Amino acid sequence: MIVVTGGAGFIGSNFVLDWLASSDEPVVTVDLLTYAGNRDNLKSLDGDPRHTLVQADICDRAAMDRVLAEHQPRAVLHFAAESHVDRSILGPSAFIKTNVEGTFTLLEASRAYWSALSAERQAAFRFLHVSTDEVYGSLGPQDPAFVETRAYEPNSPYSASKAASDHLVRAWHHTYDLPVLTTNCSNNYGPLQFPEKLIPLMIVKARSGDPLPVYGDGMNVRDWLYVTDHCSAIREVLARGRLGETYNVGGWNEKPNIEIVQTICRLLDELAPDPKGSHSRLITYVKDRPGHDRRYAIDAHKIERELGWRPAETFETGIRKTIEWYLANEAWVSRITSGAYRDWLDDNYGKRGN
Ligand code: NAD
Ligand code: DAU
Repeated sequence: MIVVTGGAGFIGSNFVLDWLASSDEPVVTVDLLTYAGNRDNLKSLDGDPRHTLVQADICDRAAMDRVLAEHQPRAVLHFAAESHVDRSILGPSAFIKTNVEGTFTLLEASRAYWSALSAERQAAFRFLHVSTDEVYGSLGPQDPAFVETRAYEPNSPYSASKAASDHLVRAWHHTYDLPVLTTNCSNNYGPLQFPEKLIPLMIVKARSGDPLPVYGDGMNVRDWLYVTDHCSAIREVLARGRLGETYNVGGWNEKPNIEIVQTICRLLDELAPDPKGSHSRLITYVKDRPGHDRRYAIDAHKIERELGWRPAETFETGIRKTIEWYLANEAWVSRITSGAYRDWLDDNYGKRGN
């Protein structure tokens, strides 16, 4: 069996659902169920003997020791993190705690567990760390895309905390021989994403007729990947990745933010027209994010060359599926856009102005 931390979040829950759709190997999800973790995401697995949800903090060493001792996994897949850049700007402390201390705690628990395994099980064990392209910093318009050998230059509290966690993972391999793998992925989108990130935020706001807040000049560039493509990349790296290596994962799909928002408006105009007029009338430029990275782009040649992975979805197919999912799951959205969510919108956007 495998342990998945953060399996009730956006990418983690997509990963668990995909895994159990194509394999009978059991999964234990370890998740603190913060604001970003949602039991509903895994509801279709209720009563499925292949899945166990343990509500626990990755910073809690005793709890991590118990999970590993009880379930005897062959792999730990580490998705759990504080993941939103804007939240890291307004309150960095939780990011240092979960992303740095939590990863450290999980590495130490995994090392103790792995050290006591038989030689055969030790050789088969994997600790797969799910990280981000943001650790590489920001690109200029003509710079080549990020390769795995690029120096780390994190710019936000979030990316600095993820960079720190990547360094810990690397060191646990180099020093203790823990069999680790790291993936650095670009921006994901798709079903089950909490509506604080660009794409679901814009869909949800457009549906309720609220202004669509585009930061700065809207020309910051991200490289978008449909979430199930990220999941398939992780499965490949887990199965055949070389120990101690890092693999960049991306969609070959760079787009400025304003183009993303315009595409969402166009598709909503087609799929859920608003009698008041095109959704694009709601686009509003607001004050920029402090330290806003200008451009990310992933060179995903290594994972293609070594593991034969390429994304299956184009942006056109993926964004349509995503919008259709949000339109079909408005009850899921309304259950999580509670008081705490409205407080967040107030904190992040209330004082932003134009
Ligand atoms: P998310 O915020 O949707 O989910 C994070 C999950 O971790 C939640 O279920 C939350 O409850 C859980 N969690 C948080 N703190 C915890 C703790 N202390 N102990 C246990 N569980 C805890 O994040 P996501 O977008 O699904 O990202 C998952 C991972 O992928 C993160 O490590 C993130 O850095 C990385 N990543 C995300 C993207 C993206 O575009 N979303 C891209 C590349 C990499
Ligand atoms: O690159 C991978 C990273 O992508 C992940 O590691 C992070 O966990 C994930 O949150 C994401 O970070 P970004 O900051 O790129 O994603 P976000 O959706 O917050 O923003 C995408 C772009 O859209 C960014 O340039 C900021 C802009 N934006 C975002 C929001 C929320 C806006 O213009 N308006 C907004 O309201």
